[in-house]
Amino acid sequence: MGKVFFKHLEFEVPEGVYEPREDSFLAGNHIWKLDLKGKKVLDVGTGTGFLAIICSEKAGDVHATDINPRAISAARKNAEKNNLHLDVFESDLFQEVDEKYDMILFNAPYLPGERDVSNMEEKSWLGGKKGNELLIKFLEDADKYLKKEGFILLVFSSISGVKDIFEKINEKNMDYRVINQKKVDWEKILLIKCYKF
Ligand SMILES: C[S@@+](CC[C@H](N)C(=O)[O-])C[C@H]1O[C@@H](n2cnc3c(N)ncnc32)[C@H](O)[C@@H]1O
Repeated sequence: MGKVFFKHLEFEVPEGVYEPREDSFLAGNHIWKLDLKGKKVLDVGTGTGFLAIICSEKAGDVHATDINPRAISAARKNAEKNNLHLDVFESDLFQEVDEKYDMILFNAPYLPGERDVSNMEEKSWLGGKKGNELLIKFLEDADKYLKKEGFILLVFSSISGVKDIFEKINEKNMDYRVINQKKVDWEKILLIKCYKF
């Protein structure tokens, strides 16, 4: 079992759960600076609970989901270890979600490659043939779970079929802004904010 640190927070990373890395830190550093007092947040695909737990320090109410049962248990344990409250439940994207949020986060599995449905470890980073399949499915429904002034923070890569993602955002009557980006090897990791017109 590995360990990852962010500020004073500590995260255990059991086998088969996505270890927080550049993409997680790109979003985490941004979230850390946000004023989330009294806000309701949903972290989709929470993994170790990394982003959700950073939010829990500041937000009113934070929910976290994942399709991987090991991630669910890791996120619960990490929240407990950091003495923070987090409501964690298993869900395939929005399947088990029935509330509306001020902010929805998704550091998506975004690398191109067919997903082996039985392999949770691969599912944590493979986003389908072009890398954007799961993200596009997410965007199809995400606006229904946003409060009126709510917004989405997305993390994906310059090699994730970006054009299709931006088209989908516009198709859903939303606009987007690149908040930050980081070059890592041959790709650029992007942090995008999407909001309703
Ligand atoms: C790139 S990891 C990000 C983990 C964590 N949010 C972070 O920033 O370190 C993507 C996460 O999405 C989860 N995931 C994959 N498919 C999913 C789905 N259909 N619904 C919900 N979560 C999913 C994976 O299990 C994995 O934990």
